[in-house]
Amino acid sequence: MRPPPHATIRRFQRRLLAWYAEHGRDLPWRRTRHPYRVLVSEIMLQQTQVDRVVPKYHEFLRHYPTIEKLAAAPVASVRRLWYPLGYNIRPIRLHAIARESVARYGGRLPDREEELRRMPGIGRYTAGAILSFAYGRDAAVLDTNVRRVLSRVFLGPRRLARVRGQRIFWDLAAALVPRGRGYDFNQALMDFGATWCTPRKPRCAPCPMKRFCASYGLA
Ligand code: ADE
Repeated sequence: MRPPPHATIRRFQRRLLAWYAEHGRDLPWRRTRHPYRVLVSEIMLQQTQVDRVVPKYHEFLRHYPTIEKLAAAPVASVRRLWYPLGYNIRPIRLHAIARESVARYGGRLPDREEELRRMPGIGRYTAGAILSFAYGRDAAVLDTNVRRVLSRVFLGPRRLARVRGQRIFWDLAAALVPRGRGYDFNQALMDFGATWCTPRKPRCAPCPMKRFCASYGLA
């Protein structure tokens, strides 16, 4: 697929950022750029809803305030603290990431995509989230919410049925990130998908994208 016209990209960026300024959620991991805290939040958010992550995020950071403290802890204790969140391979992976960061990178979470993706449990999505939220890079993110937004706005309902792979969406997500605004833009895209352009009841009538949304009035 060809990238959308430049003017459409600019319009989408402007409107999304304006929407976020008004409707974005105040979430605890948005009050920090600290790579370790961003990492903890993103691993928790991989499979768990925001509301359930918030208290556990605070509790986890009280127990393990630094990557060194986490690396030094017995993995069984980390698993026990994590347990109510479910999907319990994640604390094991997070612990392994902490150990590797301490052993190989002096206690610093790497800031390069290749190095991040060699860590357990860090795929393209989580690497993009860490790069943009912790290191301010204009990396793309794509989760199920973002994918739904992009397919609705840029492909339309008929196209969606035919598109199976992820590649087209990663290319779109990357083409959309405004230079120097990766942090806000990606947080905005996630909130827009999670709270506005939702699976069953999208808020189309007041939507700032409706003029150029390929699904408006058709979904
Ligand atoms: N889901 C994954 N990452 C997120 C974030 N940073 N904010 C809200 N929801 C998310």
